[in-house]
Amino acid sequence: MTQQAKNADFVDWFRQSSPYIHAHRGRTFVLCFGGEAIAADAFPNLVHDIALLHGLGIRLILVHGARPQIEERLALRGAQMQLAEDGLRVTDDAALACVKDAAGAVRVELEALLSMGLANSPMAGARIRVASGNFVTARPLGVIDGVDYRHTGEVRRVDTTGLTQRLDAGAIALVPPLGYSPTGEVFNLAAADVATAVAEAIGADKLIFLSEHKVSGGRGKLPGSMIPSEVDRLLARRKSLPDELCRILRNAAAGCRAGIGRVHLVDRHTDGVLLGELFTRDGAGTLVTAEPYEHTRDAKIDDVGGILELIAPLEAAGVLVPRPREVLETEIDRFTVVERDGTVIGCAALYPFEKEATGELACVAVHPDYRNGGRGDALLAHMESRAKAGGLTSLFVLTTRTAHWFRERGFATASPDVLPGRRRDMYNWRRGAKVFVKPL
Ligand SMILES: CC(C)(COP(=O)(O)OP(=O)(O)OC[C@H]1O[C@@H](n2cnc3c(N)ncnc32)[C@H](O)[C@@H]1OP(=O)(O)O)[C@@H](O)C(=O)NCCC(=O)NCCS
Repeated sequence: MTQQAKNADFVDWFRQSSPYIHAHRGRTFVLCFGGEAIAADAFPNLVHDIALLHGLGIRLILVHGARPQIEERLALRGAQMQLAEDGLRVTDDAALACVKDAAGAVRVELEALLSMGLANSPMAGARIRVASGNFVTARPLGVIDGVDYRHTGEVRRVDTTGLTQRLDAGAIALVPPLGYSPTGEVFNLAAADVATAVAEAIGADKLIFLSEHKVSGGRGKLPGSMIPSEVDRLLARRKSLPDELCRILRNAAAGCRAGIGRVHLVDRHTDGVLLGELFTRDGAGTLVTAEPYEHTRDAKIDDVGGILELIAPLEAAGVLVPRPREVLETEIDRFTVVERDGTVIGCAALYPFEKEATGELACVAVHPDYRNGGRGDALLAHMESRAKAGGLTSLFVLTTRTAHWFRERGFATASPDVLPGRRRDMYNWRRGAKVFVKPL
């Protein structure tokens, strides 16, 4: 690849990620990872990405586990934790000593890595403050089905004021898998439960689980997006899912139901997975949202019915030029649709004129129930990148009633004479549509 091509690639990538940089600034994300991630050789890379997110103005709360570190300490004492239902563990006195010891050591390790100058990296010289503390109040899990869980606990309360103060002061907050009781006891908690409770209490914009297991992409894996009822069905159906993943999924569904907008599950083994998930349109893992997921994609032949239904009223009102079903079927490859929960709620078409390196944007429509939500903008952005990928250097549109919408998005009035010859011949002077052109 030539230097020029590399630069063009970089510029393209940077432009595509910049809307996310803008959208994430000032938002609060809770990030949960296990002790396995901390023990891994690649952990400094993850810390580096965390530092980068912090540098981009994201308010971060890190919740960590310490399972392997606890087990290591137990093994040294020749002890082990009793495993009960659902992957839950009984924390006896010996285990609690190991839990405290491991949590302390992990905290020091994390603080050290986040304090590193991260030389030879874009974060060189960054000064990151880490604040940890007694943010979580816990109570004992108690006795369930005859099993006394001893020092294993559950979250009772989160000190949101304390956390918010640390975040407001520009620090990254660090929350261990421990909770304290008003009676001065310490309880061993599951990191995923702590992360969800913290995210709910603080009203986080995102809760992100870095899973030990592969999450999406490929056979037998989770779909790219799910809603809580789909998570419930999956948990009921797939009994063979690892305990850790079940706990994360249960938390994801519960968190969404409790009002966390977006819960992400990503595979922590993939280098750069956080950046891929947060700064690219399609993400890198599984997204659990309370709202049915919506996405913009190339149209398929099965979408013809949905598109016809969407544009029929606009054709009847003279806003769009009528397109019979047969035409739509042959031209379906030219269309992009916005699908929401299986229904087409938006569409647009691109007719390229390769010789003139331009393309016509047509049939731009968003269902009236879903207007003013930025979908028109998203469709336009999608069509522009589709046009650029096809080597086009401009887009034009013919419109009778939507002139201002296009003008506000960088299109400028032009005479019908600028249209490619073939299109000019087809221009319907009676309709009197105005021509607008946007250079790409
Ligand atoms: C144009 C259209 C696709 C925009 O979809 P959308 O999802 O509502 O778009 P966005 O949310 O990105 O933009 C909404 C903004 O566009 C404005 N807008 C919508 N229709 C407009 C029009 N005809 N002229 C000028 N501005 C318009 C809205 O007022 C809103 O701006 P505001 O928030 O400043 O008030 C949609 O209104 C539509 O389907 N219209 C009918 C079909 C049509 O005219 N297509 C173009 C034919 S070529």
